[in-house]
Amino acid sequence: MKKIAILASGGNSPAMNNALITATKKAISLGIEPYVVYNGYRGLVNNEIQKADIRYIEQFYARGNIVINSARSLQFQNDISIQEQAANNLKKHGINDLIVIGGDGSFMGASRLIKQGINVFGLPGTIDNDVNSTQLTIGYISALENIVEAVDSIRNSFESHGGVCLVEVMGRHCPDLAVAAFIATNAEIIVTEDKILDAKQIAEAANECFKKGKRSVIVMIVENIYGKEVKTTLPELAKEIEPLIPEGYICRNNIIGYSQRGAYPIGYDRFVASLLANEAVQAIHENEKNLVFGFVNDKVERYPIETALKMSKPGKKVYIKDFEKLAKI
Ligand code: F6P
Repeated sequence: MKKIAILASGGNSPAMNNALITATKKAISLGIEPYVVYNGYRGLVNNEIQKADIRYIEQFYARGNIVINSARSLQFQNDISIQEQAANNLKKHGINDLIVIGGDGSFMGASRLIKQGINVFGLPGTIDNDVNSTQLTIGYISALENIVEAVDSIRNSFESHGGVCLVEVMGRHCPDLAVAAFIATNAEIIVTEDKILDAKQIAEAANECFKKGKRSVIVMIVENIYGKEVKTTLPELAKEIEPLIPEGYICRNNIIGYSQRGAYPIGYDRFVASLLANEAVQAIHENEKNLVFGFVNDKVERYPIETALKMSKPGKKVYIKDFEKLAKI
């Protein structure tokens, strides 16, 4: 009987559970025995490999965690003897095919296992949407929804008091979450790595909005800029802006943070995760090897892992210019 294992790696993302559930069910339906690996590559090295218990796993279909846990393992990426040990643990269980749910970094890790004789299959799972071989990563739209809900509430508060809120969202170095949230929340200003604004520039743009009759201004900010790319931290920036906007108006910062990663997995995210996982196990059943699966133009595509790692995509930043113009209205 063919056996497969499934692991999650890197930052968790909502709807990873739905990929896991579908992969497990699909395997059972095809007469393949499904296993799970706890704690990502670290767990693979430590032999935390167990038979998948579908009745247990499926209880988590509506939760924003990943029930088999995820982890980042630098040691795994860099140490060949560790990679060999991980592959041997799979082989001891009679497993030759491994599904990895994660981002490009996790697929790089997977490609190291190919050299150790394991067939690997990548499902794009990260809130950042920074996997080039897919238009949508598992978790991205749920994280976006989480930001939108938070900003809608933030807007209520800033409408009540009048002022500017600096909202920082995740994405590592990819602005896709920030751009989509900027558009979806009718925000006024966006700051990305390509266009970093200082206090004076933000205040000037905000004041234009106030002159046009707005009471609240939301500034959508990609993480890793303030306090990292530039020395000024977000709270410092807020303090610098406040004296530059109309008297009585406030300027504060709000980092949305880890609620994005643990967000409620919304229906479409679960749907996409399930389609991707279904296709992965189908490919394993067909004796395919070393693929990454992408959701492109409403369907699942298969790419050789080396091709996937070299792909590029424009990303959501192409929409910034147009919507910045609209934000000035
Ligand atoms: O990759 C997902 C992500 O949430 C990024 O958006 C963020 O930069 C990073 O992980 C944070 O991870 P950690 O908490 O491990 O630093």
